[in-house]
Amino acid sequence: MEHTRQWLRRARRVAVLTGAGVSAESGVPTFRGKDGLWKQYRPEDLATSEAFFRDPKLVWQWYNWRRGLVAHAQPNPGHYALADLERRSKEFTLITQNVDDLHEQAGSRNVVKLHGDIWQVRCLACLREWTDTRPCIAELPPKCGCGGLLRPGVIWFGEELGPGVWDRAEKAARKADLLLVVGTSAVVYPAAGLVRLAKCAGAKVVEINLAETAITSQIDAFLCGPCGELLPKLIA
Ligand code: OAD
Repeated sequence: MEHTRQWLRRARRVAVLTGAGVSAESGVPTFRGKDGLWKQYRPEDLATSEAFFRDPKLVWQWYNWRRGLVAHAQPNPGHYALADLERRSKEFTLITQNVDDLHEQAGSRNVVKLHGDIWQVRCLACLREWTDTRPCIAELPPKCGCGGLLRPGVIWFGEELGPGVWDRAEKAARKADLLLVVGTSAVVYPAAGLVRLAKCAGAKVVEINLAETAITSQIDAFLCGPCGELLPKLIA
């Protein structure tokens, strides 16, 4: 913790990569691990474009359920600590794999959403995209005014990231003096590849997680515990 505090104090450019673990203490379930969503559901049935075209209603029911969870969730002390860190940093980029908006609600500004946004919808016919924050969309699958099918504005397995999104994340990781990796199992690429990019470019990399992960052996410090407790302590 003390080394990390020193690195933070010295860092001109800070980048943070977050995953589902940062929202776990807000009541949003993670994907892997004992109670993870992928223990109960198969990603092939719910988080691929093939699944969507096979059964758009089923995929939308799953997103309605997750929208409901996110709508009722509040940012936790970990989200607030990261927003505080941004205010105190010269240059700061928060890269998240999460599709919830809890970082933004806590006050984070420079946020790169690698996997899209659960509140966005996109028409597959006219390609128009907009924000729809209804926790539950009644008519499933929803249609655009043009008659086209709407899909959630998220990135599914096998899909490319949104335009410009990877560039912003990669640039921030390469330029960072310190990369904090918080609450991610670091097994999904390209997100997990940011750790190696930052390390090879000379950054110190610090991981905060309840347990060791795929990247723990590559990093400079591992802080073990709930990020809702450790982040406020680190940043205080
Ligand atoms: P995972 O569910 O794979 O990993 C969550 C990580 O958070 C695990 O390593 C947990 O140990 C850790 N964790 C849980 N609670 C924590 C807490 N309170 N404090 C600190 N750590 C905690 O979630 P991600 O790594 O985000 O993608 O998953 C990456 C991607 O896989 C997601 O964006 C999603 C998923 O499939 C798509 O749907 C495309």
